[in-house]
Amino acid sequence: MSKQITGFSKLSKSNKIDWIVNTYFSNKEDAKNILKQYWNSNEKLQQLHDEFIENTITNYYLPLGVAPNFLINDKLHTIPMAIEESSVVAAASKAAKFWLDRGGFKATVISTTKVGHVHFIFSGNIEKLQRFFNEVKPKLIEDAKPITKNMEKRGGGILDIELKDKTSALPNYYQLHATFETKDAMGANFINSCLEQFAKTLKSEALNFEEFSNEEKAIEIIMSILSNYVPNCLVRAEVSCPIDKLSDSDDIDPEAFAKKFVQAVKIAEIEPYRAVTHNKGIMNGVDAVVLATGNDFRAVEAGVHAYASRNGNYSSLTHAKIENSIFYFWIELPLALGTVGGLTGLHPLVKLSLELLHHPSASELMEIVAVAGLAQNFAALRSLTTTGIQEGHMKMHLMNILNQFEATDAEKNKLIEHFKTHVVTHSAVVEAINKMRSGEF
Ligand code: MEV
Repeated sequence: MSKQITGFSKLSKSNKIDWIVNTYFSNKEDAKNILKQYWNSNEKLQQLHDEFIENTITNYYLPLGVAPNFLINDKLHTIPMAIEESSVVAAASKAAKFWLDRGGFKATVISTTKVGHVHFIFSGNIEKLQRFFNEVKPKLIEDAKPITKNMEKRGGGILDIELKDKTSALPNYYQLHATFETKDAMGANFINSCLEQFAKTLKSEALNFEEFSNEEKAIEIIMSILSNYVPNCLVRAEVSCPIDKLSDSDDIDPEAFAKKFVQAVKIAEIEPYRAVTHNKGIMNGVDAVVLATGNDFRAVEAGVHAYASRNGNYSSLTHAKIENSIFYFWIELPLALGTVGGLTGLHPLVKLSLELLHHPSASELMEIVAVAGLAQNFAALRSLTTTGIQEGHMKMHLMNILNQFEATDAEKNKLIEHFKTHVVTHSAVVEAINKMRSGEF
């Protein structure tokens, strides 16, 4: 039976667990044991994880895999990926190997500007507001100096602040639209602190602006917050090769493959139903690296999908063409990432992942993440337009099914061998397990 509780967050971890298992679970001991099974035996490490969030009861594991052989701008990388989906790391590795022999990936950061807003209501004369803004702008920047000082030392800071009139969409609604450079930090705290300071200055200075009537002086701040839509924090990654180099098996005619591949991308450019799945496959690669490197994958997801809709229709993030017998395939992604601050200096596996990537700058990480997305899309489209996706996918999924049935190592080996020459379906695997266990196999 569910019941309400007050003061839950103040309970000790063990009392929280007692309350949960007593309230929700029929087999309380089992539930408790599962939770405890995932605790780390190193108490300090466990405490670190406990303190990342509130009300931690245990750790939630995801596999951390690696995809080697990524040649990016002539430098070799082994990319860490945290993800639960069976075929993603295998697909990335395969795409990496494929392009390793064809010149690798090229990636460039186009821009690194981040954005935030003070959203406010002003009931009055727009020209007066514009004059007020022009007068107060230097003070907005000056008052934020204690916050921006360190960032400026690292070459970042506030780039600009503009007044935006949004009243045609919402009566009396205006914004301070501020742009920032945050160098190797994702910069969320920095940006939000600056914005909250802008809001304070804006409100207090309005009271002293003589041209304003009493009503105009009462600027109402609605909120101050960064935007996860970062169309000017953009990276591009690409691969290309002569069409005749595109095949690595005799079954695939490179010319026909290239044309079919380009067609598949064009479908995702114009058909939102396909674009969503196409982009989901890209995000398999993007999120896995974003997560492994301690970045905020929800922020990235939200920004990327908004970008995919920037022309009014949800569309593909990748593009492909054939020109003068050369196949080109590329992606453009908005990515606000950090390699300092946040979890990057705290989570031991994040630190390890960043070291594995040769301690990248935020820009280098943008390039690596974009490449992971492009590689994932290449692998997916290559399967989809040739063998179909299920063959590889179900082979990887075989292990999940075997684990569901608690297959022993010997049983696993036997069935993996068997399914090298048989089609994997859930029912075929179940049938094979049953036959094997009843001695028929
Ligand atoms: C599955 O996680 C991702 C794919 O559906 C992507 C795609 O269809 O392009 C295979």
